[in-house]
Amino acid sequence: MDSISSRPSKSKKIILRSVIALGLALGCVSAVKREDFKTCAQSGFCTRNRAYADLAKETPNWTSPYQLTTSSLKLQNGVLTGDLINTQEDKHPSPRPGLSFELHLLDNDAVRVRINERDPVSPRYDGVQDTVLIKPYGLAKDSAYTRLDKDAAGALTIQYGAQDQNKIKVSSAPFKIEFFVNDVPTVVLNDEGLLRFERLRKKEEESKKEEGKEEEGKEESKLVDQDAAGDEVDIKVEKSPLELKLEENLWEERFKDHTDSKPRGPESIGLDITFSGINHVYGVPEHATSLSLKATKGAGAPYSEPYRLYNLDVFEYEIDNPMALYGSIPFMLGHSKNSTAAVFWMNAAETWVDVEKNAEDKDSGLLSWIKSKKAVSTPATKTHWISEAGVLDLFVFLGPTHRDIFRQYSSLVGTTALPQSFSIAYHQCRWNYNSQQDVAEVDAGFDEHDIPYDVLWLDIEHTDGKRYFTWDNAKFPNPTDMQQSLSAKGRKMVTIIDPHIKKDDNYHVSKEGAELDVYIKNKDGNTAFDGWCWPGSSQWIDFYNPKARDWWASQFSYDRYIGSTKSLFTWNDMNEPSVFNGPEITIPKDVIHYGNVEHRNVHNLYGTMFHSATAQGLTQRNETNQRPFVLSRAFFAGTQRFGAIWTGDNMASWEHLEIASPMLLTIGLSGLPFSGADVGGFFGNPDAELLTRWYQAGIYYPFFRAHAHIDSKRREPWLFGEPYTSQIREAVRTRYTFLPFWYTLFHEASVDGTPIIRPMFTEFPEDEAVFATDDQYMVGNALLVKPVSKAGVTRSTVYFAGDEKWFDIKDYSVEQGPGAKEIASPADKIPVYQRAGTIVPKRERPRRSSKAMENDPFTLVIALDSQGEATGRIYLDDGETFNYEQGDYILREFRASNGVLSSHNLKTGSVGKTSEFVQRIGALRIERLVILGSKTKLTKVTVGNGNVAEVECSKAPIGGSYVCTVKEPKVAIGEDFELSWV
Ligand code: NOJ
Repeated sequence: MDSISSRPSKSKKIILRSVIALGLALGCVSAVKREDFKTCAQSGFCTRNRAYADLAKETPNWTSPYQLTTSSLKLQNGVLTGDLINTQEDKHPSPRPGLSFELHLLDNDAVRVRINERDPVSPRYDGVQDTVLIKPYGLAKDSAYTRLDKDAAGALTIQYGAQDQNKIKVSSAPFKIEFFVNDVPTVVLNDEGLLRFERLRKKEEESKKEEGKEEEGKEESKLVDQDAAGDEVDIKVEKSPLELKLEENLWEERFKDHTDSKPRGPESIGLDITFSGINHVYGVPEHATSLSLKATKGAGAPYSEPYRLYNLDVFEYEIDNPMALYGSIPFMLGHSKNSTAAVFWMNAAETWVDVEKNAEDKDSGLLSWIKSKKAVSTPATKTHWISEAGVLDLFVFLGPTHRDIFRQYSSLVGTTALPQSFSIAYHQCRWNYNSQQDVAEVDAGFDEHDIPYDVLWLDIEHTDGKRYFTWDNAKFPNPTDMQQSLSAKGRKMVTIIDPHIKKDDNYHVSKEGAELDVYIKNKDGNTAFDGWCWPGSSQWIDFYNPKARDWWASQFSYDRYIGSTKSLFTWNDMNEPSVFNGPEITIPKDVIHYGNVEHRNVHNLYGTMFHSATAQGLTQRNETNQRPFVLSRAFFAGTQRFGAIWTGDNMASWEHLEIASPMLLTIGLSGLPFSGADVGGFFGNPDAELLTRWYQAGIYYPFFRAHAHIDSKRREPWLFGEPYTSQIREAVRTRYTFLPFWYTLFHEASVDGTPIIRPMFTEFPEDEAVFATDDQYMVGNALLVKPVSKAGVTRSTVYFAGDEKWFDIKDYSVEQGPGAKEIASPADKIPVYQRAGTIVPKRERPRRSSKAMENDPFTLVIALDSQGEATGRIYLDDGETFNYEQGDYILREFRASNGVLSSHNLKTGSVGKTSEFVQRIGALRIERLVILGSKTKLTKVTVGNGNVAEVECSKAPIGGSYVCTVKEPKVAIGEDFELSWV
């Protein structure tokens, strides 16, 4: 309950908490306090840009006033540059030059478009790239592109790409850029003419202008005309309401009790981006909305507000609402049967995005092209991007496939860091485990009930008065022993560390922070900003200061974080940042960061900077080369490099269970695959059925953690008794059996940015039936998961895509695609199917933690397709250190074809091949093969060396094929082998 706008006194806090607890107990949980958060109409820059869009729509033959000066265009070394003029602003000779335009052709087939002010009155913030882009990218070589002659209208076309497949048409007047892939139009910039770039101005000049206008206004508001008699008459030209809106809230701006001083005045940027021939767009997390984004504008649009990207701590967030939440990733992907393209709007200031569907393309001839090809019935999705500050910096990814897009995007912003293997197992959390005794009992409860788990979490109450890096000594007198007893069973602990530092001279972190001068400053740039959070009066570390980052990272060393051990990891919460008495429960936009950067420019990145400094701390705290694990609530593009995120304070309701899938799918396809939702729901009390169904769904979240609010009833997995304990045990154990598969998917994501859980449309890009599907999804390319998210449901409709078979992972029953079918989903299982054509590596011996499984043998489940073929992979390393970077890992591909299963090494180079680890793990045996989809009963399995293995098949075919199990085929996971069956 962190978002209560102010909590000045403890007593008030207790009353509030009791009221909420009562509400929760009565099951009448109140909804989000919408009035705490701005609507577009309450935000000056959003209003101005939306009004501009409305004006464009209302004005017959609207043309963008922006034009490229053709004579200025130069294409050199992969970069097109030129001058961009606003013909309205510059119609009277302007004392200032216009805007600079750059288009970069990247060597990975992506394109970057940048627009900035040529000579601003003060520099516009352009530092997002320094923290978001992982390295300087390569530009296309001269030979990789061709500049085509300008056409009759003066448009310049550049043809480029590995296969020359991309065409970029740059029109000068009006300014517009069209992207084509294999001649199919995909993305168009400024097609609607909504480009709007507010140039910085001096406040004094502005007020003089205003005064002048008032004087001149009398004349300017009149035009002179002649009447019928030829006499001159005045015609009054009044500004329309929309035109007046264009001038709203340019300087100081108020919201509730807060005033944003906006010392630099208006500096917003806006641009429309059209996805041609594309009716489904996805991305721009974080919102509690569907996967395929609903329209926010146009006839019949389900939403009236744009999607807002502004990291906020939203108390009791509402479902099916484009309000901002804790994280922001300005990445959007559009998909149709014919094309796939994506954009990344690299801006960390507050941003709003309008989506309009089924709009017709104007003048470009696209519509007629589409009609002639009969490609799609809905020609385009128009999007309008509006950011408060910064420069216009946009990447366009042209694919042509999803995998290409994920690779192109992640090569710029980074892929997910390979996590420690414990962190993809099960996490047990609650606000709070109250004492060392409580921890010991919960830990023992898992063993007693034979439920595996890897990590026990401690929330804010474990500290001494919310002073992070300390312990409440009365409750946790011996944290080192506590961690060691968990560690003895292969288990870890996570403690929470937030970015607000209690103002207290006796608290070492607070004192050092003040001495080092590393706190965010008030708008005066001198005094430290002071606000309210859990500890009361607090200050916030300025992670933009390199000194602050290093100092923060050093706090994690064992000799500073007293009571921490190698098995202790970190949870970063409240890092939007959440400020209880701040505007919209966050920090004011005019506070100042290191380098005199106004917070307004970097708000959405603050949480990531904190996350990254914490990950740095955990990485450098020991000499054992251990990978960090840090969970963060706030996020931005690039967060994947530092750890996991979760979807914050959800509720124990069926609706919240249901929305978790689209939310996680959206975050994953936006480049951040390591994410989860609180299993069980944070607020409120799930009943046994909801909790069980949530576990059954949660085992398929990349980050799998149960968590609960301090006022909720205890709900450790065994507390509801039978049959629920057994059902939850079965679910959690299922997660553990698939850990080798999950880890392999994390490896894949860490290499090329591929999402781990995937929307159906990315695996079946031609099947229009799944373009909006978000109530079932794929784990990797192999498992189809359909969570049950309604009470009392025991039958679920599952859509089986493709024209191959699907095998139930528990009883191997078979379904044939394509088509929807009603499937039994009794209380003890949800529908999960393995796709024909895949091989999934598993470990099937139940243990108490993932660590305890590390020497266990493997099972391969081979689901043959109609041709008798299947492929799959396994990636293995020590699960803890960075040694894999030196080649200390195993990566193999399994291939089944014509009755032969083979295993090949996929690792390139010989580095690490003979390391102790590779030898030891590589020698672990494959103890079982499960062969699904064989049309005949297998009778004999021979391993290359002549060994004959035992094979047993089901008595009768199941769904037209046999289930055969090969026991002890005597092959090792790390060796090349061939094994044949007849
Ligand atoms: C807010 C977080 O979202 C929640 O998970 C946590 O329990 C509370 N803060 C207390 O730290």
